[in-house]
Amino acid sequence: MYTLLLVFVSLISSGCLAEFVITAHEREELGVGEAPTVGLGFNMESLLTKYGYPFENHGVITEDGYVLALHRIPYGRNSSATNDTKPSVLIMHGVGSSSADFVVLGPERSLALMLADLGYDVWLGNNRGNTWSRKHQTLDADKNSSYWDFSFDELSLYDTPAMIDHVLTVSRNKKLSYIGHSQGTTQFFALASHQPDYNDKIEVMMALSPVVYCGNMTHPVVQFLKDYHTAFEMLTDYLNLTVILPHSIVTETALKLVCKEGSEYQDACPLIFNILYGFDSDQLNVSDIHVFLDTYPAGFAIKELKHYLQLVKSELFRRYDYGILKNLEKYFKISPPEYDVSLVTAPVALYYGQNDWLVGMADVDRLADELPNVVEKHLIDYKDFNHIDFILAKDIVSMLYSKVINKLNEINGVAPTAS
Ligand SMILES: *[C@@H]1O[C@H](CO)[C@@H](O)[C@H](O)[C@H]1NC(C)=O
Ligand SMILES: *[C@@H]1O[C@H](CO)[C@@H](O)[C@H](O)[C@H]1NC(C)=O
Ligand SMILES: *[C@@H]1O[C@H](CO)[C@@H](O)[C@H](O)[C@H]1NC(C)=O
Ligand SMILES: *[C@@H]1O[C@H](CO)[C@@H](O)[C@H](O)[C@H]1NC(C)=O
Ligand SMILES: *[C@@H]1O[C@H](CO)[C@@H](O)[C@H](O)[C@H]1NC(C)=O
Ligand SMILES: *[C@@H]1O[C@H](CO)[C@@H](O)[C@H](O)[C@H]1NC(C)=O
Repeated sequence: MYTLLLVFVSLISSGCLAEFVITAHEREELGVGEAPTVGLGFNMESLLTKYGYPFENHGVITEDGYVLALHRIPYGRNSSATNDTKPSVLIMHGVGSSSADFVVLGPERSLALMLADLGYDVWLGNNRGNTWSRKHQTLDADKNSSYWDFSFDELSLYDTPAMIDHVLTVSRNKKLSYIGHSQGTTQFFALASHQPDYNDKIEVMMALSPVVYCGNMTHPVVQFLKDYHTAFEMLTDYLNLTVILPHSIVTETALKLVCKEGSEYQDACPLIFNILYGFDSDQLNVSDIHVFLDTYPAGFAIKELKHYLQLVKSELFRRYDYGILKNLEKYFKISPPEYDVSLVTAPVALYYGQNDWLVGMADVDRLADELPNVVEKHLIDYKDFNHIDFILAKDIVSMLYSKVINKLNEINGVAPTAS
């Protein structure tokens, strides 16, 4: 079993060397097009078609040239295209994940599919660098290391506003509801504080496991890296490490070998996730994980991780710290400017867990105290609920989604039953 863990750890660290087998760049045109098949054969459109949902693949170009894929489920099963306006929802994944997080558990337990059936116009974002968003107008993700020179600061400056504006343009809605998980919340709070006019485009922000203040992050690896923060930065720079855990057939095959119902290593499977996200085997099901591995991990930049470690260390929510000289050049200040969350005037609902190694309860309290417009602060009523339970918990509907959906319906004036 330890061998397996070692294999896993080495897979993480060799992410930069993994062969890129993704055909995500192959889409030729922007705008609505086909979503490419990834890994061992996952295809977003085929999956949604199988379940009876419509699918649209949109391309969005950011101001700095990244080409992002936005996946849309414009209406639910048993419904058809109409000209009635539906409330739009944009759902943003966390670090190392993708739009697939919110569809892979099928119609009964996937947030995006449940919302489409309830009458929402559902959009799923994909941040730069993940499986579906690896294209750039001039840079090549596989060849130019400068492609990976981004943290959630860039996600908040470029990707998040580009996706929000695209959704509003296409749907012709004035506002949308934003649902973020983990980094999906960080990039929102950063955007809404440094471009406060975006608050007017938001009906409500539903923050699932909000990562803003990080002083109370209990993850042992994070705690370890925090203390060796400088050494870690020097090592990754020396190794030219730019990307972590991109989706590859090699990783997918290895992980699926472990995470398979009836596999002799089956017990090691939840363990891997427990080590990454906090112990909670009771809510993890090997079959669910096996499906999740079709698309997870989806890759992220090492700089995203570095930026979070800085937040853990500084206990502040602020922009990337480049060191005194470069900070002066970039921000005209010695230390990086803080994101001021008191400027986030959009209504915010916060959902958080008691056993989330990446989100300390005290940090959520601090955030809630500083946000001017909190409409809900909900601690999930299950003592072991961890960071990945927000995506994969067996009882995710009763523990989380039922509450999220009720609030969303209330704010959007949507009838609580399917239309
Ligand atoms: C769709 O229609 C089928 C057959 O009429 C029904 O069983 C099912 O519950 C409907 N699903 C939704 C989401 O309305
Ligand atoms: C929606 O409106 C457009 C233009 O007004 C019309 O061409 C189209 O047929 C309508 N679609 C539906 C499904 O009603
Ligand atoms: C990107 O990589 C290619 C191939 O190595 C190289 O020709 C090109 O100059 C690089 N572009 C930039 C902007 O670094
Ligand atoms: C959380 O972190 C703050 C500093 O940001 C610290 O003062 C406080 O004691 C911590 N609380 C807990 C419960 O660990
Ligand atoms: C990192 O990149 C630099 C410049 O491209 C190169 O000289 C160096 O050998 C690389 N280091 C490693 C460990 O690959
Ligand atoms: C795990 O999920 C599969 C597929 O949904 C189901 O058949 C199985 O009973 C679940 N196992 C447990 C222990 O809940």
